[in-house]
Amino acid sequence: MTDVASQSSAPGDERPVLTNRQGHPVYDNQNQRTVGARGPATLENYQFLEKISHFDRERIPERVVHARGTTAFGYFEAYGSFGDEPISKYTRAKLFQEKGKRTDLAIRFSTVAGGRDSAETLRDPRGFAVKMYTEDGNWDLVGNNLGVFFIRDAIKFPDFIHSQKPDPVTFDRQVPNRVFDFASQTPESLHMFTLVFSPRGIPASYRTQQGFGVNTYKWVNSEGETVLVKYHWHPKQGVKSWTSADAAAVQAQDLGPHTRDLYAAIDAGDYPEWELLVQTMSDEEHPELDFDPLDDTKVWPENLFPLTPIGKMVLNRKPVDFFTESEQIAFGTGVLVDGLDFSDDKMLVGRTFSYSDTQRYRVGPNYLQLPVNAAKVPVRTNQRDGQMAYGVDGRGENPTVNYEPSIIGGLREGTYPTHDEQGPVITGRVTRKRIPRTNDYQQAGERFQLSEDWEKDELVANFVDALSQCIRPIQERMVWHMFMADDEYGRRVGEGLGITADDVRHLEPLQTQTLTEEELQRAANLG
Ligand code: HEM
Repeated sequence: MTDVASQSSAPGDERPVLTNRQGHPVYDNQNQRTVGARGPATLENYQFLEKISHFDRERIPERVVHARGTTAFGYFEAYGSFGDEPISKYTRAKLFQEKGKRTDLAIRFSTVAGGRDSAETLRDPRGFAVKMYTEDGNWDLVGNNLGVFFIRDAIKFPDFIHSQKPDPVTFDRQVPNRVFDFASQTPESLHMFTLVFSPRGIPASYRTQQGFGVNTYKWVNSEGETVLVKYHWHPKQGVKSWTSADAAAVQAQDLGPHTRDLYAAIDAGDYPEWELLVQTMSDEEHPELDFDPLDDTKVWPENLFPLTPIGKMVLNRKPVDFFTESEQIAFGTGVLVDGLDFSDDKMLVGRTFSYSDTQRYRVGPNYLQLPVNAAKVPVRTNQRDGQMAYGVDGRGENPTVNYEPSIIGGLREGTYPTHDEQGPVITGRVTRKRIPRTNDYQQAGERFQLSEDWEKDELVANFVDALSQCIRPIQERMVWHMFMADDEYGRRVGEGLGITADDVRHLEPLQTQTLTEEELQRAANLG
């Protein structure tokens, strides 16, 4: 075989020679083949056609959400215990068991609503998606930096995202009327909007933000016993946020400050770290709580459900290539390992379908064969073929047997580690119903009251700025929700818009709301 790399054209130029994808050397990369110097091009012009047609296909669709993002790599190091107890009491997941055990990981930080090239400085939740390449296969924890979400049922997600995306007629991105039209009709979103419009809505950098799994998951121990669990990532760098003015000043000069900051820290050997902490709760409905533990619009109060540290994440490598390691990386909530499980959270189930569905479209049906997505353990499936199949994964001794069961070879089923089912037995009528304990306002009000004075001032100013661009009925409904959460909250945002409690007291609860007696009382006595 001739290595074209050895054929250098200019004496002393040792650089490797350009080839086409067939391995043919490229002798002229400046001029396509034509009949005469000025003449028409010829169709057998393989080198030119391959080059241009590959270029024509360079872009894959950007993510339908979280299109703007940045990837880094590192490891997770387990503490090997759960407070004073062995962690095996709660989960048998291997990556957590041994003190000091390291698991390689990838992380992708992102914004949500903007396109692939949009500014990193925009007010938006940040995605915080971690992929751990464990010895039992991959585990993805796909979360955000704010700990809760806008909606609690996956069926509302396309509507919610449409309200956040550009106007479909003008493609105008700055249309608060659309955002708050949806928000004003979706009371469970007030808690998350209270966070997004606070300084937390613009982190000072990816390194100085928290991360959360948000949805409720389960842990399973070797007896098959389960607990509910919520994940938190705390940055060792501390939490820092920007005011709107801080962000505007940076954005005037720089659309990508957060990626630059993250990669500069890694280049300098100042590796960012986050500690992983969990809250747990017994695996039941918890009727004693005034919220549903499976409702992702709620936090679990830390005084009742304390945080326990179980390990740390260190980021120490930048991607080698943006497209293959950031654009093609694919996370999903269904990607769990033994010892970790789903809960019945109605968002989680919808998300779990959506991620792999979109990735089969966005990246292709064999997206899991790509190095950044492939498990770092042997993979043996009977899945075959499909667009861009890269190879055949592990198979039994008789490669003609690509099915199961078989008596002539192929792969066999494993045996469950200890049991085949876990968790409570649930019976109920198939129905479409809101969860009983919606409690949409209490945590939003508490969040407002727990804010420092400057954070409250920012929150109010940010809301007044955005809502002043909305029509009056939307403003009134938003102020009504804020009064329902907290008098000072409603009064201050109302003042900025020229709306008083008297102006909104006549509003009836939304048809999509079921209010408690106490909430109805509050609606009658706003202010
Ligand atoms: C990305 C759907 C809720 C965090 C995505 C993507 C889809 C999606 C389709 C694009 C994935 C890709 O192209 O690879 C949904 C649905 C949801 C939901 C249907 C609700 C039912 C959430 C929630 C969170 C979240 C509650 C945070 C806790 C993320 C993150 C990404 C993402 C971090 C970016 C992953 C990456 O960096 O590649 N989501 N999502 N999503 N979502 Fe969700």
